[in-house]
Amino acid sequence: MEELLQKDLETLKGVYDFSFLFSYTLHPKEIVSYYKKNKYLFYRLMAKSKSGTMHMGLSDDGLCLKNTCYGNYQVDFIDRYIKENRCHTILEIGSGQGANLLSLASRNKECFFYGIDLYPSIDKRLENVSLLKGDYHDLSEIADHTIDLVYGIETLCYSVEKEKVFQEVQRILKKDGFFVLFDGYANKKRDTLNALEKEVTLFTERGWMLSCFEYVHHLDYYARSHDFSILRKENMKKKLQAHVDSYKNRLDRVFQHKWFCKLAFSFLPKEILGNFASVYFLSNGIRSDLFCYYLHVFQRK
Ligand SMILES: C[S@@+](CC[C@H](N)C(=O)[O-])C[C@H]1O[C@@H](n2cnc3c(N)ncnc32)[C@H](O)[C@@H]1O
Repeated sequence: MEELLQKDLETLKGVYDFSFLFSYTLHPKEIVSYYKKNKYLFYRLMAKSKSGTMHMGLSDDGLCLKNTCYGNYQVDFIDRYIKENRCHTILEIGSGQGANLLSLASRNKECFFYGIDLYPSIDKRLENVSLLKGDYHDLSEIADHTIDLVYGIETLCYSVEKEKVFQEVQRILKKDGFFVLFDGYANKKRDTLNALEKEVTLFTERGWMLSCFEYVHHLDYYARSHDFSILRKENMKKKLQAHVDSYKNRLDRVFQHKWFCKLAFSFLPKEILGNFASVYFLSNGIRSDLFCYYLHVFQRK
């Protein structure tokens, strides 16, 4: 596994100068600009996300979805949860382009959906969707104990104050309400990483504008200390691997043309190059258990 990560690092260093990744301050304004720039070129074109979802593809059979890496697994899961538990009022934190909200709101017309994002946008207005512009660490626009289910897909990874998010979610959820998360984490504690793993982790975090991948088991602590019980905690590695491998294979085909890359990459925004780098490292990062992707379902006591 070490050799795979080493090879990935050498390949990327052959086509990239990584120094640009360290020019970020990781201010929320930079995160907004990052998603604006990646919206079309990365998500719509490379990832072929027609609906505008900006999350990983997952599949039960472990096979890559045809023609797209951006599937509906996460949204279908949340839809089932809403129906099985008769949830009426739902909030998505980090709702991005609103694709998950649109899909769920049109499938659950009797429910009301809120979405909050630093840069919320949506292709279509629906009567049962309300978008809030803001930071999900502060949910003060939502009253105490009014929400049945809160979910977040690949957004909590941006938080450096997850305790605060759990505290806010705890406040707005009704008793027995649910908090569902699909997200990426570090699978090993930082102080146990060797030099190569540290370098790959740092480049992957920076490429996605993350301050730091959280060690996955820290979430148990946040949940318990805010009065949540853990209903489900599942490593999604087998469901994800084929999708991230498919990205890597496509990028490998491009990266072998070193001179073309050097020229083309001098025109591309650094936010897109950063995303390429992180996605590239993810494949062997997941395979070697350096990174992981988990589904968590918490229930407010
Ligand atoms: C990978 S995208 C996922 C978007 C959406 N959940 C989806 O599945 O399509 C991450 C989103 O989190 C948002 N985000 C990051 N930090 C945030 C914060 N502190 N408050 C609100 N939104 C945030 C970003 O603006 C971005 O839209």
